[in-house]
Amino acid sequence: MHSAFRDRNIVLGVTGSIAAYKACELASRLVEYGANVTAVLTRSASQMVGPASLAAITGRPVITGLFDESQNPEIEHISVATSAHLFLIAPATANILAKAARGAADDWLSTALLATRAPILFAPAMNTNMYTHPATQVNLDILRARGCRFVGPESGRLACRTIGPGRLADTQAILEAVIPLASDRHDFAGIDVVLTSGPTHEPIDPVRFIGNRSSGKMGRALAIELLARGAKVSAVVGPHSEPMPSGVRVVPVQTASEMAETAVNLSQEADVFIGCAAVADYRAESINPTKRKRDGNGLVLKLVENPDVIGMVGAVKREGQVVVGFAAETDRLLANARKKLEKKHLDLIVANEVGVPDSGFGTDSLRAAILDGKRNAPEFRLLPKEELAEELADRVSGMLTEARAAGHRAIQREVNN
Ligand code: C5P
Repeated sequence: MHSAFRDRNIVLGVTGSIAAYKACELASRLVEYGANVTAVLTRSASQMVGPASLAAITGRPVITGLFDESQNPEIEHISVATSAHLFLIAPATANILAKAARGAADDWLSTALLATRAPILFAPAMNTNMYTHPATQVNLDILRARGCRFVGPESGRLACRTIGPGRLADTQAILEAVIPLASDRHDFAGIDVVLTSGPTHEPIDPVRFIGNRSSGKMGRALAIELLARGAKVSAVVGPHSEPMPSGVRVVPVQTASEMAETAVNLSQEADVFIGCAAVADYRAESINPTKRKRDGNGLVLKLVENPDVIGMVGAVKREGQVVVGFAAETDRLLANARKKLEKKHLDLIVANEVGVPDSGFGTDSLRAAILDGKRNAPEFRLLPKEELAEELADRVSGMLTEARAAGHRAIQREVNN
């Protein structure tokens, strides 16, 4: 679970637009961020998306538009409404906008919208004429003046076969609008992070490659954590890695050389660089243009060393830039990690054990310790990758704060002189 959305309660109100089916994808992304998502379907939305799907995705009962007689409706909607940190209405029809604008409370969702004091974010979706109608526009003005937020709608081809404004904003845009409203940690706002993730594949002929077992799970956990805390995240990602969450700028690559070129370019503008990728250390000196055939004599491959991606970034590190590496080791963990920290000019390195159960490539947890340049003995713990991502983000955040303070002190000295 990620820290910025931990214990954050998001009510996802789904109303009866054709785009209602997109709420499942949205709910799944919010759950992935670690939020507690309570889905509410209006009566017409339940005709379009199955409450069972949303219940399975959110892991919580779905509230339907009708008051359930077995519950005490008064208490239920008031408690959900008052414990919410955000109401996200996606898709929002002209009808719910009209009801919210005039304070009507004739079903579960409209009642809860009146009872809550949490921020409200609407993602409108409707036919163009309905959207541009003066009645809807007045309702939007009223809600905006009252502090409600909006994302979209976008212009484009609509389900009713017209072209114009009214299409639900895409999931990524909605999530980007949700993050600053729902998250209670913004320590990476305005911070540009570049990370590498996954393995690299080094071809030896058109069908074969040298690779490793990296899954990209650690890089993905880090990307989600940083994104939720407000960072702008770019990821240079090797083949067959876990997909990055939407909101991350992804540059897919295959080989270490491609990764080096892209990562070094992107890192020039970055405040933070994290080398999570398991970069292949060697590549074939020459790639056979055709598939190598067996000839009974075995095969000798000449391998040459790949560029050290993070080493290149570390070598040209700017003042105040934070560069973080990983050291996946099977033996002499601490000594090897320390050596890498120094040789590659890193600010932090995560020493982690591979080749043991529950820790390493493809697993959901790592036995790891975070080292800085100081000579203290760090503690090794078995942690889920999400928790390690949180701890690492905390350490990086601390370093950025220190670097900013040092920068201010330096400017002050200049001014004083
Ligand atoms: O030397 P070693 O491969 O163990 O170093 C691990 C760290 O260096 C990781 O952060 C990894 O992403 C990075 N690395 C790299 N380019 C390489 C090899 C490793 O960026 N060619």
